[in-house]
Amino acid sequence: MTPHIYFNSDIDSPVEWRDALATEFRAFTFSTAEAMDSPDAVDIALIWQLPPQGLKQFRNLRAILCLGAGISQLDPSLLPCHVPLARLVDDSLTRTMVDYAKTAVYRFHRAFHIFEQQSRERTWQFRPPTLTRDTSVGVLGLGEIGSSVAKALGDEGFCVHGWSRTAKQLAGINTYLGWGGLWQMLPRCKIIVNVLPLTDATRAILSSEFFSHCRDGVYLINMGRGGHLVEQDFLAALDSRRIAAATLDVASVEPLPPMDALWNRPDVLITPHVAGISIPRVAVRKVAENIRRALAGQPLLQQVDLARGY
Ligand SMILES: NC(=O)c1ccc[n+]([C@@H]2O[C@H](COP(=O)([O-])OP(=O)(O)OC[C@H]3O[C@@H](n4cnc5c(N)ncnc54)[C@H](OP(=O)(O)O)[C@@H]3O)[C@@H](O)[C@H]2O)c1
Repeated sequence: MTPHIYFNSDIDSPVEWRDALATEFRAFTFSTAEAMDSPDAVDIALIWQLPPQGLKQFRNLRAILCLGAGISQLDPSLLPCHVPLARLVDDSLTRTMVDYAKTAVYRFHRAFHIFEQQSRERTWQFRPPTLTRDTSVGVLGLGEIGSSVAKALGDEGFCVHGWSRTAKQLAGINTYLGWGGLWQMLPRCKIIVNVLPLTDATRAILSSEFFSHCRDGVYLINMGRGGHLVEQDFLAALDSRRIAAATLDVASVEPLPPMDALWNRPDVLITPHVAGISIPRVAVRKVAENIRRALAGQPLLQQVDLARGY
């Protein structure tokens, strides 16, 4: 069958995706909102965000393939509930997320955040390095990305703890579940890495209650979503030194507005939502597999459970 694909994204290149799909399908149609002549022919929506009018015009849709690992940018009330929705996690995304997490963790572990400051102040002050096994890292979320991050940090010798909704067994990782498990885990962590999905249960999780369970001088790395962080509580925790420093890759409003108080903090490093990315020429294999599955009426890979929210 020839796939008829509708593409919609403000952040992904339609040209790169069309070229990548051409390596997988000899024949296919590829339309964007600007060039859409027969919506009834469309069977696959390949999207980062929904178009303003939603997807109702595509009456014969067989699958919605989100270009992101998270789906919190999609308003569930605008999704046709009879059409399966899949998210996208592929080797390129996982690899870039793991690289980011390792870079951010090492920056704190080797005190580069302090040397950056000292360097600006022309200060030569020795700080002895410590062994990775003496730095404990807590990973929030042990899904496709979180489990890879936890394993990679464990392979580097860090003492790794991980938190999930359901029980997990990961070699060399101390795992915890539920709120009771989280409150047990937090005081054990010097660095916390958030890779949770944004759901009703995890929204605003990085709050004053959360920080009250952390040890003094904890480091926070938020690679999940901006909606996880309660900014006022976070700023108060920085001021009280409960949080020593943080790396934020995501913000509740993106781009982070120029007047936002976070920009003024020397103890906060902001990166512009670059932690992980699916590279089309690599990720197309996962997308093509889901297109073939959708056209054959088979269950999708990485299908989202909308009731659960991820
Ligand atoms: N910054 C970036 O560039 C970037 C890029 C990609 C993704 N992300 C973020 O990373 C997130 C995770 O992606 P993923 O592919 O790893 O997702 P995933 O495979 O769906 O895994 C989600 C993990 O979070 C856990 N979880 C969900 N709700 C929870 C709750 N209420 N309490 C405790 N644990 C909970 C899940 O627990 P169970 O295992 O028990 O279900 C699972 O371990 C995305 O949703 C997105 O927010 C960010």
